[in-house]
Amino acid sequence: MTFSVSSSSPQRESQKDKPSRTTRPRYSAFMSDDLATAAEWIRDAKAIVVVTGAGVSAESTIPTFRDAMEGLWAEFDPQTLATPEAFAADPEMVTRWYDMRRVKCAQAVPNAGHLALADIEKHVSSRGGTMTLLTQNVDGLHTAAGSKNVVELHGSLRVWRCTKTGQEVTPGPEPFEEFPPMSEAGAPLRPSVVWFGEMLSEGALETAFAASGSCDLFMSVGTSAVVYPAAGFVELAKRAGARTFEVNKDQTPTSGIVDLTFRGRSGEILPELVTRAFG
Ligand code: OAD
Repeated sequence: MTFSVSSSSPQRESQKDKPSRTTRPRYSAFMSDDLATAAEWIRDAKAIVVVTGAGVSAESTIPTFRDAMEGLWAEFDPQTLATPEAFAADPEMVTRWYDMRRVKCAQAVPNAGHLALADIEKHVSSRGGTMTLLTQNVDGLHTAAGSKNVVELHGSLRVWRCTKTGQEVTPGPEPFEEFPPMSEAGAPLRPSVVWFGEMLSEGALETAFAASGSCDLFMSVGTSAVVYPAAGFVELAKRAGARTFEVNKDQTPTSGIVDLTFRGRSGEILPELVTRAFG
C-alpha cells in the first residue's frame, strides 16, 4: 500500500488554547473530568494502540514535518521534497534536506511525552496486556525513551541505503561531507524513509491493521492525521469498539471521530494521564 495525503487541511486553532507555561499545566474542571476518564481507560485497557506523529517530538526541539521548512528551506514544500521524483531530479538538494533533519534528530533526546508512552507500555505489559506504538516519526525517539513494541511506519532517518545494492548503513552523528552521500558500491545513498507514493513495509502494515482492529483503547498523539494509512487506523479501532482519544495542540480531522480530545502539548498531557492512571 502506498500512502497519501487527504485533500482537506486540518484547521489550526488560535493561540488562546495554548496551555500556560507553568511546570504543571492548569486544566479546566471539564478537562480534568475527561483526564480522569482517559486515565481510567488506560488503567483498564488490555490492548492499547497509539499512533504518533511529529507533534510528539516537537518538545524535543525537532520541528514538525510541516513546520520543518525554516531558513533556506522555507521556499520548499515538504510534500514535494519527500518523493522519489524529487530525489531523482535533484539528489543533492533532497539529501541535504534529509541530512539536516538527520543531524537534528541525532542531537535530540526523548521528552516527557515519549517517556510517558514508554511508562504506559511498561504498566500494561506488567499486567499481561499489550501496547503497540505505531509511529509516523523517523527520529527513533520512542525507542530511545524505552518503548519496546514500536512500529516505524515511515521508516528511519538514522538508516540510509544504497540505491544500487539496497545495503543499509547507519552513519555517525556528523553531517555527510558530500551530497548525495555515496555508498561503498559507488551509488548515491538515500534515507531509509518511506516517501510519498512509496510502499509501506508489508510487515508494518499488517501489524498496524491487526492491532488497530482488535484494540480496546486507541490514542492518536501529535499527528495532523492527514497522511494515510496512519490517519485511517482510528476508524478501524472505533469500528472494533475501542475507546478512543486524541492529544494534539491543534484540531485535526481525527478530533471529530474520537470519544475525547485533549487540546495541548503531549509532553504535558501524557505525563498527567500517567500520574492519574498509575500514581
Ligand atoms: P505534521 O507536521 O503534519 O503534524 C504535527 C501535528 O502535531 C500537528 O497536528 C500539530 O498541531 C501537532 N503538534 C505540534 N506540537 C505538538 C505538541 N507539543 N503536542 C501535541 N501535538 C503537537 O506531522 P505528522 O502528522 O507526523 O512522513 O505528518 C505525517 C507524515 O507526513 C510524516 O510522518 C511525514 C509526512 O508524510 C514522511 O516524511 C515519511
